[in-house]
Amino acid sequence: MDGKTVLISGSTDGVGRYVATRLAAAGARVLIHGRDKARAETLRDEIKRAGGGEPMFYPADLSSLAATRKLAQAVLADHERLDVFISNAGIGSRTEGPERRTSADGYELRFAVNYLSGFLLAHLLLPLLKASAPSRIVNVASLGQHPIDFDDVMITRGYGGSRAYAQSKLAQIMFTIDLAEQLEGSGVTVNSLHPATYMNTTMVRAGGIAPISTVEQGGEAILHLVTGDDVAGTSGRFFNGMREAKANPQAYDAAARKRLRALSLELTGLPAA
Ligand SMILES: NC(=O)c1ccc[n+]([C@@H]2O[C@H](COP(=O)([O-])OP(=O)(O)OC[C@H]3O[C@@H](n4cnc5c(N)ncnc54)[C@H](OP(=O)(O)O)[C@@H]3O)[C@@H](O)[C@H]2O)c1
Repeated sequence: MDGKTVLISGSTDGVGRYVATRLAAAGARVLIHGRDKARAETLRDEIKRAGGGEPMFYPADLSSLAATRKLAQAVLADHERLDVFISNAGIGSRTEGPERRTSADGYELRFAVNYLSGFLLAHLLLPLLKASAPSRIVNVASLGQHPIDFDDVMITRGYGGSRAYAQSKLAQIMFTIDLAEQLEGSGVTVNSLHPATYMNTTMVRAGGIAPISTVEQGGEAILHLVTGDDVAGTSGRFFNGMREAKANPQAYDAAARKRLRALSLELTGLPAA
């Protein structure tokens, strides 16, 4: 990873934090992101103590599309290359309560934070990723997947935190397949994964769930997609840990992906393709 620049959203905590530490130790220039300055400071110290370079911290609340845009602009302004973007930030099914909440832009919160912000960031960072090719995007999704009801994407009826979380995670996987098709021949690959089941992280503990995996296990699976030679030419795939796997059937429905793409471009204010 020497000389490579990596942006990891949601790296102030959990598995993203572990991945940031590992990539910095491997020589990467790590761009850390989250909302919590104190957690970012302790991560910065940890990385420096372990002999990694000085990581740069980009604070941004991804429940706001304006803040998400600012984050992309700051990264584009500060760096001449971006080799990897790991879209990892997320909230769980019960983070800050299981009830329905909305983002700064009025969208269902889990869909906005877990999916839409990553969709927007990836698009805004694409010119730099393309200029730095070969480069990689890794979308940290989940095995928890629920098909999108296109008549009620914001889940205004029959809301459940688990369904909202799982819908946002399937949206990431659908976006991965769709984007890989668009990026064919560009030298930029994009894959998604379920890192590990119920890792011992804030999100899992907030859900009242007893952890059954470690962040190291999930972190290794993410690092595999970031650095693995065996996946250098792989794009548009979903992995369960270290192995390629099948996602929910809706991910392979080209019409559903097209619909999601059109909706996401509209919701994020990106120009229609
Ligand atoms: N844990 C599991 O077992 C598991 C299983 C499958 C998939 N995943 C996926 O793995 C990824 C990481 O999860 P984790 O378990 O490591 O979670 P975590 O420990 O709760 O960490 C979440 C990270 O996302 C950031 N984040 C949350 N909301 C944000 C917002 N509105 N704006 C900006 N940053 C925000 C947090 O930043 P702050 O420090 O600012 O809070 C933190 O750095 C998620 O995408 C999750 O869905 C986890």
